[in-house]
Amino acid sequence: MIFYFSGTGNSYHTARKLAEGLGDRLVNMAEAAKAENYAYTLAPGEKLGFVFPVYAWAPPKAVEDFIQNLELYYTDDIYTYAVCTCGQSVGETMSILEGCLQENGLSLRGSCHAVWGRSFPCEYCLSRHVVASRSTGMKTELVDGRLFLVFAKFIFLEGRAYSLEMVSEVTGLFGFEREKRVLGEISRLQQENSRLMRDPLTDCYSRHYMNEHFHHYVQEAKARGQELCVALFDMDNFKDINDRYGHATGDEVLRSCCGFWLKYFDVPGKSFLTRYGGDEFVITAITDSYGAFCDNVSHLASAMRRTIVLPDGEIIPFSFTMGCAFMGEVGVEDELSVWDALFPLADARMYRGKNAGRNCIVTGTDTVRW
Ligand SMILES: Cc1cc2nc3c(=O)[nH]c(=O)nc-3n(C[C@H](O)[C@H](O)[C@H](O)COP(=O)(O)O)c2cc1C
Repeated sequence: MIFYFSGTGNSYHTARKLAEGLGDRLVNMAEAAKAENYAYTLAPGEKLGFVFPVYAWAPPKAVEDFIQNLELYYTDDIYTYAVCTCGQSVGETMSILEGCLQENGLSLRGSCHAVWGRSFPCEYCLSRHVVASRSTGMKTELVDGRLFLVFAKFIFLEGRAYSLEMVSEVTGLFGFEREKRVLGEISRLQQENSRLMRDPLTDCYSRHYMNEHFHHYVQEAKARGQELCVALFDMDNFKDINDRYGHATGDEVLRSCCGFWLKYFDVPGKSFLTRYGGDEFVITAITDSYGAFCDNVSHLASAMRRTIVLPDGEIIPFSFTMGCAFMGEVGVEDELSVWDALFPLADARMYRGKNAGRNCIVTGTDTVRW
């Protein structure tokens, strides 16, 4: 049974597709609430789904109210899942939903984010790592003062790759005083780790993060049947800005430019921005199509304010040149090699743009000026 709520139709479309695929029943939460129909019986083995949009980083109030009133009758353990449709930032949606479900004796299953109480995958997802590297791995997770040891092993089952993950809580294993020190140290290391992944000047991800995670995005795009696109860009005449106005102004230009792109592409599990070299950056994004990605990037670049203002009021203009490429055009099967094939393509296009007068995007079929 799939309970759905939809304001403008996206969630309804999603729920209908799911219902068709799974052969499930659909219940419109808004109509059911209006008719005060809150009692439902699940057949043995029937799954329970919720599909709804994200409004203001949370589930719609109507969804929370409906779940609160829901009277569900079932005979065995039920598998519960949720799908939310959204723009680009889900905020606390999944943890709020989890809270509502728990009040009604239900909980989400099947998503490891739910196990860890998170709304998106961990930055260091051990399972993806072991599947990609066909290996085993181990890590610690500190969640609300509780310490867990996670061990993951790559396995191959009926022709498909899986990660077998074992989680063991080790809180309390070291004795109180020692444990306080161990937990403190792990928490410090986790913060240090997150800091190391980002460039302190621009807040973009570091090249190290990209080396570690790019293939996870490749896998994710393949799994979702979507396209993985990259846009490599380099500031135009950046040395001149540094020489003429000094490095502090150069830094401000980079911060301003990256701050803009981060607003649109720093979306865990979907896109990220990397500082690849001194004034060279890469946008990596999973999208519906390469065309849509290029349109989006060039539209955003046209709308971007490409100046900074110095404390004395002087206006410093800046520009950059971009070269784009996508996974589908390189035809590389091995996920770990996709970046090696994409980079020269995006790089060559970027240099084509530089040679054509800079301040433009080269997509392979088009050169767009903004
Ligand atoms: C009032 C309103 C608030 C929204 N807030 C968010 C939000 O916080 N985060 C987000 O990613 N999308 C947000 N969106 C976008 C919707 O979640 C997205 O368009 C969704 O697919 C709409 O689903 P529906 O067509 O089933 O109503 C918002 C949309 C509206 C109308």
